[in-house]
This record gives sequence, structure tokens and C-alpha cells, in this order.
Amino acid sequence: MSSLIKPHGGQLIQLINPSEVAGLRARAEKLPSISLSHRQICDLELLLSGGFSPLTGFMTKEQYLSVLEGMQLPDGTVWPMPITLDLDSKALEQIKGASEAVLRDNEGFPLAILTISDIWEPEKANEAQRVFGTTSLDHPGVFYLMKQSGSHYVGGKLAGISLPRHYDFVELRKTPAQLRAELEAKGASKVVAFQTRNPMHRAHVELTFRAAEQIGGHLLIHPVVGMTKPGDVDHFTRVRCYKEVMRYYKPGTASLSLLPLAMRMGGPREAVWHAIIRKNHGVSHFIVGRDHAGPGKDKQGKPFYQPYEAQDLLASLSQQVGVEMVPFKNMVYVEKLDKYFQEHEAPAGEKTLQISGTELRGLLAESKPIPSWLSYPEIIKELKEAFPSNASRGMVLFFTGLPASGKSTLANALAMRLMEIDRRQITLLDGDVVRKYLTAELGFSKQDRATQVRRVGFIAAEIAKHGGTVICSLIAPYAEDRRINRDAISPVGEYLEVFVATSLKVCEERDPKGLYAKARKGQVTGFTGIDDPYEAPERPELHLDMGTLSISDGVDKIVSYLRERGFITAQ
Ligand code: ADX
Ligand code: MG
Repeated sequence: MSSLIKPHGGQLIQLINPSEVAGLRARAEKLPSISLSHRQICDLELLLSGGFSPLTGFMTKEQYLSVLEGMQLPDGTVWPMPITLDLDSKALEQIKGASEAVLRDNEGFPLAILTISDIWEPEKANEAQRVFGTTSLDHPGVFYLMKQSGSHYVGGKLAGISLPRHYDFVELRKTPAQLRAELEAKGASKVVAFQTRNPMHRAHVELTFRAAEQIGGHLLIHPVVGMTKPGDVDHFTRVRCYKEVMRYYKPGTASLSLLPLAMRMGGPREAVWHAIIRKNHGVSHFIVGRDHAGPGKDKQGKPFYQPYEAQDLLASLSQQVGVEMVPFKNMVYVEKLDKYFQEHEAPAGEKTLQISGTELRGLLAESKPIPSWLSYPEIIKELKEAFPSNASRGMVLFFTGLPASGKSTLANALAMRLMEIDRRQITLLDGDVVRKYLTAELGFSKQDRATQVRRVGFIAAEIAKHGGTVICSLIAPYAEDRRINRDAISPVGEYLEVFVATSLKVCEERDPKGLYAKARKGQVTGFTGIDDPYEAPERPELHLDMGTLSISDGVDKIVSYLRERGFITAQ
């Protein structure tokens, strides 16, 4: 295949022409609008700035299929990742019959005009299989594709009005043209870029030292600040860490710039994509280490890609891409020599050490010391502040289960017990109460249930972020909505799913509100457990059958779990 693929010219195609902007702005007023999601805004920014050059718009169906099937654009240029504009049915209705639409940010500010050349309904399972090599929803890229992106794609060329606006770390955000000019001004003819979505520790810094030395060139630390894997360290914390790390490089040898990319966690295909994006930013060499852009593991604990699969794919395409890969094997610490080595170069027989991001989070959560061989004091301090221990973090206890399974009673009893022993403020978000005050307009369709659950998740995340305890009791019958809440809450507080697993039989016997009886008679329809689905949680933190446990036993079980994990420390 690779012999058919054309080299990437490295030309920078910027889609904002300053002399056209006033005219486009006026034209935009008359056009139907598409309001972009965060992910779409990230893609748009790199399209407009030339970061995704040679793309000049969101992909047409022809481009899309060519990328899925052959990792190339129809003209043969290598391009591994679909860049599509997805729409739901409501947005589709808005642009029906139009030949142009204006793309706006959340506040309605116009960013670009799209000339619509194509609207189609993609086969998402095929896309997932081709791009990610799996259709498993455990893969964050697949989950986004299948569950969060709209049903249709609209393709066409863009005319840029404005880059998306940013107010954070403005001095570190550089467009490809700005970065190219800066690197040139530094006299850097060879530049090696380091992609990252994590705080940088000693292993990463060692790896970048070596890469720069190896090529005899300048180093560009080029972290992603658009969207990364759900649950990653937020970019504010990370950028503070990167700024601290810069002092470990000799003056003038390294630059830091932020990349507003929305990652897909696509491993091999993503690595090739990353290299192309870096080329557009003026880079000649690109570091790919172990498990580059890895999506984590599936439920069975199996990784989606081999640790060096990304290296293999980029190696086969780097000539066409026009960027040289600087590969690294797994970096490990050799205690006796106080030095880092690539795994295969470590002296035989010596003990090696390595701590994963997840393990580090565990140490922070339990207030355990972070070993100094792992990271730098400034970074450790930053992370300790960003990740308070479990004893003081906010938490969301999310009770899900059938109607009448005992969620509300248990939630109330738990709230009282927690008030006795814990100083966090407590908020109860009970489904029925929420429906009365906050979501009175919602019914019980799948869509309305999703809205209800996600709104509660939104409020819960806000409270957890500020260190409070939230107890939610909702039927929340769909796994997808619960997962979206978990992903939204986990970065800001602890999300604990409590499956109130009382059997349907027991719930129906108890039937405190007489609703099961009505549902059986057909007087109530769309009733969860009778004629509406309930998807039981597969991996809840707690599983309580309130058919066999007393209320106080249930509360005890939750409280001992919280004590065990250090969320509650008072006796
Ligand atoms: S990601 O883009 O790959 O998801 P991450 O921050 O985890 O971001 O890694 C950045 C780069 O460093 C990737 O190229 C990755 O392969 C490499 N890398 C990270 N940790 C190690 C390690 N211990 N050994 C070798 N390479 C590593
Ligand atoms: Mg990684």
C-alpha cells in the first residue's frame, strides 16, 4: 500500500484570509447555523490554522472512505484519521436544503463558513473497525464515535472567519505558521517534537534529552491541550508542570508550545496523524515511545494495541509523511545506578523500577510519598495540589437500580450517617425531587431519561469539584448515560457507582407507590423493569441487594467501603 501513497508536501494551507473576513461575517448572518461541540471546535481550529494541512475542510464522503480504507486522501496523500463534522437530527433539520452554513462556538460567535458538498450517514461500526481496529466501547475513541457523535456527517470546504478564542496560556499557544517562524528564528533546522497528554516526569525528560542529542537538533515539547483520554490530568495542571520542567533543559535547546488537538486514542493511526500535524508545525523529527496514544485496556484487561504497533506503522509511512521517527523502547529506572535506560539497554540483572500514571494517582489518593526517582519536586508539588487525597476530595455516590429497589431510602439513611461522621457538605439529588424542581418538563423516553441523568451528573460534578459529597438516586437505566457521568465526574472528584441490585420480584412485591401494579395493568407505560429496559451496571464500585440487606446493613457496607478507601477518616 505504501508505494501508492504520495509524500506529504509540507505546505501550510491556512483557511483564514484576513481580507475576506469582513465579507464572510456579513454573509454568515444570513446562513443557518451549526453550533459546534468542544471536539468539533478543536478539529476546526487545526483545519483553519493549517495544522491539518492539506485538508481544506471537513471530509467529504469520498475522502472519508479513502481514509478509512487506505489511510490516504483520494489524491494519494497519506492521511490516517477521518476528520468529519457530525450532526444529530436536529442540526440536520436546521441546514436542510442549504448550500452553506455558519459554524459557531458555544456563545454563538461565528468561526467559519462551510460550503456543504456532502451529507451522509456513516457506517460507524465499519469506521471503528477500520480506524481503531475494534468496535469495543471500552475504547474511548469508539465510545465517542458510537455514543457521542451525531448520526450524520456533513463535508465540505471551509472559509475561516476566526480561530476559536482561548484565554488560557495564551503566550504558549502558537499556530503552525507562528511556530515555524519561531523555530526558524532560533536557527533550528532540525527539530524533534515530543507529543504528550500526561505530566512529564524524569523518564520523559530523559527520553527527550536523548532524542535531541541523537538528532543534534532542537527539542519541541508539544503537549495536547484540546481533548485527551477521559480521566487524564487536566491541561491547566499539566501546563503548569510543563513550564516547571522547562528549567531542566539547557537554555535555548528546547521550546514549549501547546497543541489544541482532540485526540482519538487511536494508537498506530494516531501516531501517523500526530507526525503529519507536527510536520505542519515545522518539525523534522517525531518521538514515538511505548504505547503511543494508547487507549488503555478493554474490560478483560487486554490492550487494544501492541506496545510498539504505533512505531511499526509510522516507520512504514514516515518517508511519505516526511517526518523522521525517533523511536524509544520502554524507559525504566535502574535504582543502583540512579539512571534511566531503555528497557533493552538496562544492565542485565539490575533491578528496574517504573510507576504508571494510574499507580501514581493511587499514591496521591492515599497521601503516600512519591519517590524522587520518578519525578521532580516541582512536579510532585503541583500534582499533590491538583489531586488532594481521598480524605478531602469531593465524591459522588451514584445509586442506580430499578424503581422501588430502595435507592431513596438508602440514600437518605446514608446522608444522615455521613453527616454524623464526615465534615463534607452533602447534597442529595433524588430522581423524583429533581424532576419536581429542575427537570419538570422531562418525561420518560430514552432521550428524556438521558437528559435527566446527564443534568444530574453535571450538577454532581460541580459540587464534587468544590469538595462536597453528592448522593444521587436515580433509576438511570442506560449504561451509556452513566458512563458519560463517570467520565465527566472522575476528573474533578470520585465517582462511585452503587448498584442497588434488589431483584425485580422483590421490588414488585414491595411496590410502595403501586406503580408496578399499574404498569402490569397497562395503566402506566414505559415503566423500567416491566416494559422499559434496565441495563445493570457491569462494574459498579458497590453492589447491594436491598432485598436481603437491612437499611442499616446497606449503610454500613457503604461506610466501610469509604473508610477502606480513605474517603472517611474519622472514627
Ligand atoms: S500519548 O500521546 O502517548 O497518549 P503520553 O504522554 O502517554 O501521550 O506519552 C507521550 C510519548 O511518550 C509517547 O510517544 C509515548 O509512547 C512515550 N512514552 C511515555 N512513557 C514512556 C515510557 N515509559 N517509555 C517509553 N516511552 C514512553
Ligand atoms: Mg501513554
